[in-house]
Amino acid sequence: MLLRQRTAEEPDLGELRDDSEVHPLGSIPLARVRDDLTIAERARRLLDELLLVCEPEVQDAYSAQVPNLEGKVVIVTGAGRGIGREHALALAEAGANIVVNDLGAALSGEGHDDTPAQQVVQEIEAQGGEAVANGENVADFAGAERLVAQAIDRFGRLDILVNNAGILRDRMIVNMTEAEWDSVIAVHLKGHFAPTRHAAAYWRERAKAGEEVRGRVINTSSPSGVFGNVGQSNYGAAKAGIAGFTLIVAQELQRYGVTVNCLAPNARTRMTEDTFDMGAPAEGFDPLDPSNMSPLVVALSADEAQGITGQVFHVWGGAINALQGWSPGELFASDEKWNADALLAELTERFPEGVAPTGMVAGMQAAGGQSLRAQ
Ligand SMILES: NC(=O)c1ccc[n+]([C@@H]2O[C@H](COP(=O)([O-])OP(=O)(O)OC[C@H]3O[C@@H](n4cnc5c(N)ncnc54)[C@H](O)[C@@H]3O)[C@@H](O)[C@H]2O)c1
Repeated sequence: MLLRQRTAEEPDLGELRDDSEVHPLGSIPLARVRDDLTIAERARRLLDELLLVCEPEVQDAYSAQVPNLEGKVVIVTGAGRGIGREHALALAEAGANIVVNDLGAALSGEGHDDTPAQQVVQEIEAQGGEAVANGENVADFAGAERLVAQAIDRFGRLDILVNNAGILRDRMIVNMTEAEWDSVIAVHLKGHFAPTRHAAAYWRERAKAGEEVRGRVINTSSPSGVFGNVGQSNYGAAKAGIAGFTLIVAQELQRYGVTVNCLAPNARTRMTEDTFDMGAPAEGFDPLDPSNMSPLVVALSADEAQGITGQVFHVWGGAINALQGWSPGELFASDEKWNADALLAELTERFPEGVAPTGMVAGMQAAGGQSLRAQ
């Protein structure tokens, strides 16, 4: 209904897609992504292709919906490297002013270096945007308060908080030390709580003062947390906690006009390069380029996404899957208190082969991704 015949002057989309790749799910064609284009330019080109075959009124409607974050103020935590850096660059390109937070820590969380955050600020300024560096530790409650205050002092407001900072200290449970457990839980779980807590207080104050708030919290979980990866009980527990935190805070902050969503990303960064021996493909679309994670963050930040909240999105290349976690499964119902013997008999009858987690890779594949090891 929305599509009409191509006129002679318009390019044939078949020609444009000569070198297109097929989406891992097999159904959604992806236009070839040129490495020399920025994320906003890639998104714009894809959209332009689609608009070519739409009726004029549809073209107008969609043109008005291209994310424009002009005047918005964003904090991205852990934005000095990897995925966070890409988020900061993409959000700046969409017009937002950015607080680039990064402790500049080693992958294990040790050390402090202001350089990565400062470099990203320089990159944003070089592309004509506005940004300021912040070196606070997101797991420090008072430091997170100073981070939120810096955004408001410097740019006059805060609209979007992207919680992304993270570390790794992998170990099998039998050997995990208390410090490995505590540090990973702190940076991820408390590192999501602390900035969100202070941003939420600010947004509630704005809403109570009568302002129309369109706040955004965008969290970072992991396939390790939502599907369960061996060797990462500390990291995966924190990441599963972040998915649960997303569901709850989304409900709490809805009344103030704040949406809360979450990514479970997959990308080639120092976090994955150490574990998986993976290089970029010589040519064509690179599904593990960390910049593939950022269009979703830009889209969720747009005013038009005000109705989307409490979602956890698995992202692998061009495949974005809105996950359904902990949905009801097998029901064992009794009209009265279960007798343990009867219940055990029922369990073994209904699960004759036993039952166990399928593991992270199976979950990733079902969501449209692949094992990083296969890359
Ligand atoms: N790379 C992947 O495939 C992948 C997969 C799943 C989840 N993630 C998650 O994505 C996020 C980004 O990871 P990445 O792959 O870009 O890793 P990265 O190591 O490249 O970047 C993480 C950044 O966070 C910063 N940081 C660490 N602790 C901090 C703290 N306490 N306060 C402030 N900054 C701190 C580091 O200095 C670093 O620059 C993390 O939360 C990670 O767990 C990544």
